[in-house]
Amino acid sequence: MRIFLDTANTDELRQGVKWGVVSGVTTNPTLIAQEGNKEYQSVVQDICAIVNGPVSAEVVVEGVEAMLEQARTLASWHHNVVVKIPATPEGLEVTSILAKEGIKVNLTLCFSPNQALLAALAGATYVSPFVGRLDDIGQDGMLLVKSIIEMFKYYSYSTKVIAASIRHPMHCLAASQVGADIATIPFKVLKQMIKHPLTEDGNARFLSDWQRVSGKNNL
Ligand code: E4P
Repeated sequence: MRIFLDTANTDELRQGVKWGVVSGVTTNPTLIAQEGNKEYQSVVQDICAIVNGPVSAEVVVEGVEAMLEQARTLASWHHNVVVKIPATPEGLEVTSILAKEGIKVNLTLCFSPNQALLAALAGATYVSPFVGRLDDIGQDGMLLVKSIIEMFKYYSYSTKVIAASIRHPMHCLAASQVGADIATIPFKVLKQMIKHPLTEDGNARFLSDWQRVSGKNNL
């Protein structure tokens, strides 16, 4: 399973990329807005300059024609831009047109296996089931990811499944255990994943024990 960062913050992204484990980024209008009054295009292009992988940027208009126009503009910003389109009837139409033009789509706000099936048939490159938001309303979000993966296994769809709306390290682990292609995670979760108190205690102990004999060793 690959890891994308779900962020529009370039400081977080630089750190994640330095660790060598982040191979893409997803943004959404909320994450872009959290970066203040910066220009959408410059935020996306800054992100593209940091990570050499897919960067999802969402359309922020309604209506097929307006979405198509904006999607083409977003895609023109950088060759790694993947256009995020909501899993609505209009979004489906837009996705199938963009797919024929060779523009990559991440069908977002996916909350049912049927929406994922339609994403694959429309030619979306990615589909993003939202785990945390289903958990929030008392449904098992990871079950949705599992159902989609199992369904896709019967056929040869090239659409990749991004486990999205990841809220904690257990979500990320569970996504890998159900076979998600990608988990897109907040930077906070990435930091939590590497942290373990026994690693920290053990490392401190090894280093202090080494001090007692370090004089006899030339390293
Ligand atoms: C994914 O592409 C979305 O940007 C994101 O995962 C949404 O997460 P949230 O439900 O925590 O806002």
